[in-house]
Amino acid sequence: MERTLVLLKPGAVQRGYIGEIITRFEKKGLKLVGAKMMNLNDEILNEHYAHLADKAFFNDLKSFMKSNPVIALCWEGLDAVSVVRRICGTTNSRDAELGTIRGDLGMSGSANLVHASDILDNAKVEIKRFFLPEELFSYEMAFCNFLYSTDEISQ
Ligand code: TYD
Repeated sequence: MERTLVLLKPGAVQRGYIGEIITRFEKKGLKLVGAKMMNLNDEILNEHYAHLADKAFFNDLKSFMKSNPVIALCWEGLDAVSVVRRICGTTNSRDAELGTIRGDLGMSGSANLVHASDILDNAKVEIKRFFLPEELFSYEMAFCNFLYSTDEISQ
């Protein structure tokens, strides 16, 4: 099973979509193994968005991410990284497929409601960036035999 990081960005918190977005991941069958509200600062954002440091929108992006608390979530499941990315939709909410979080709930390429790790290696780094080990939980889902096949549970 994989774990992946999701951030509910300031727009999701302000617009009252925390529950709606968490529900979409829960309904899909992902297991919530970590959750917390945080204020982000330059230190964590410079690290998190290092790949965008040379972009013209970098400072605006950081200001936006600092404008309100965010909710950090860690989700677990088979192929969780790619499943979660598909649930979120493509970066620009106006282009994102209907049925995705960004496609259904957003209009912006920057205030796009959610962050989700793009690949497994980055997910591992991002989960460590936002969660201490003791803030992550391991537990059995009682219905997991109805969610996965026996083969899939062991992956
Ligand atoms: P990126 O990592 O390219 O996309 P994603 O979040 O889909 O993995 O970009 C990170 C964030 O930067 C993106 O969610 C919103 C912001 N952003 C802008 O504000 N303007 C832009 O033109 C792009 C590409 C991203």
